[in-house]
Amino acid sequence: MAIENPPSTSSPQAPALTRDRQLATWRRASALLPGGTNSNFRAWGEETIYVDRGKGGRIWDVDGNEFVDLRMGYGPVILGHADDRVDDAVNDRMRRGVSFSLTTEDEIRVAELITEMTFCEMARMTVSGTEATMHAIRVARGFTGRDKIVKFEGQYHGVHDYALISVLPNDVSSLGDRDNPVRLAWGRGIPEAITQTVIPVPYNDLATLRRVFEREGDEIAAVLIEPVLGNAQGILPGEGFLQGVRDITREFGALLIFDEVKTGFRFARGGAAEYFGITPDLATYAKAMGNGYPAAAFGGRRDVMSVLPANVSHGGTYAGNRVAAAAAVATLTILRDTDALATIRATGERVQAGLDEVISKRGLPHVFTGHPSMFGVMFAERMPNDYRGWAETDHELYDAVAAGMIRRGAMPEPDSREPWFMCQAHAADDSVDRVVGIFEAALDDALEARGG
Ligand SMILES: Cc1ncc(COP(=O)(O)O)c(C=O)c1O
Repeated sequence: MAIENPPSTSSPQAPALTRDRQLATWRRASALLPGGTNSNFRAWGEETIYVDRGKGGRIWDVDGNEFVDLRMGYGPVILGHADDRVDDAVNDRMRRGVSFSLTTEDEIRVAELITEMTFCEMARMTVSGTEATMHAIRVARGFTGRDKIVKFEGQYHGVHDYALISVLPNDVSSLGDRDNPVRLAWGRGIPEAITQTVIPVPYNDLATLRRVFEREGDEIAAVLIEPVLGNAQGILPGEGFLQGVRDITREFGALLIFDEVKTGFRFARGGAAEYFGITPDLATYAKAMGNGYPAAAFGGRRDVMSVLPANVSHGGTYAGNRVAAAAAVATLTILRDTDALATIRATGERVQAGLDEVISKRGLPHVFTGHPSMFGVMFAERMPNDYRGWAETDHELYDAVAAGMIRRGAMPEPDSREPWFMCQAHAADDSVDRVVGIFEAALDDALEARGG
């Protein structure tokens, strides 16, 4: 089925957005929803966006402003908004009843698709990526009989207590010494006892990881890692890093959990594990598997997953719910059977080529990070190795460009740490040219405002 976007009204030359309804909505929402939204990450003060609808690679806010969407809901919408192929499958299923707390055949199909496309031998569905990482950690503890988890600074694994250590501080000095990082809880309300079970390590730093294992390896159940730094524009693993993590976990009898919530079914059909050629013991999936519906899963080695159901708790009224399962069957089938991923990758490469030309013409140092389907552009001489290195890039310039792009009708995340997400529908219209044109105009504005 053709993926069509409605004709465009956004323009690189027209920075004036109408904001009247946005502001009124923000005031109304702020009285009832803390920050005016249902997630801290969407609370952008008076700039908070209230969306009306989306189609393909575009969204429209409540004032009718149109944007080429580069956030795609923080990644899940891999095919495009309101994709008929997925929505029709969901509609068909939901008319037969949605909540039984019994198992439907679609849930088995999802497990078949996951195990066919990835290294996993067994899988269980959850509703969110947060739940997926929480359960994968518990399964790892249950399997190894150990309590501690190693994670990497600047990696976001959701909002449960164990995931919120050393995540994304603006001030990277709060992470402490790089040889002996502090366990930095993100916000209040995380018990100290939990914080003490999570050991943060700088990404791409095998020496520190080894030191941690030599010190307390017999207490470490697993290393939880997103294969790229997905929340620092997708900073990539250096040569041998992921293999090194794999080797160290094996040496010390710990499990390796890949958090593929962002990378899964996006970097490749088999996710980042396939893309980088490293096989973990467990992995978590979410975003791209449901094209925006709340589908998520964790899975892995049969012997590890077999601690369920007898020995480790996992459940949930909505785990494997009908809507999510139908969306996952439809989305994963499309990703398995069509060239959607190749199209998305090629689209990202076209955007990168356009940006490269624009930035190079202005003589600015820059690097692309991540995978073309989920990439960042950093104003820096070279790609940083870790989250601390993000702070040394010219992220103020990036932030100014992103804000200018939003004013002109293309919406990356305003925060320089979030990558741009490509979807299949971006290839079907003039999105690539629009994004490059809008980026160019926003960059010139930002440079002029800087006085250069
Ligand atoms: C790598 C990673 N893990 C876990 C999560 C949490 O997923 P969710 O927002 O579905 O709870 C996210 C969300 O952005 C993520 O990027």
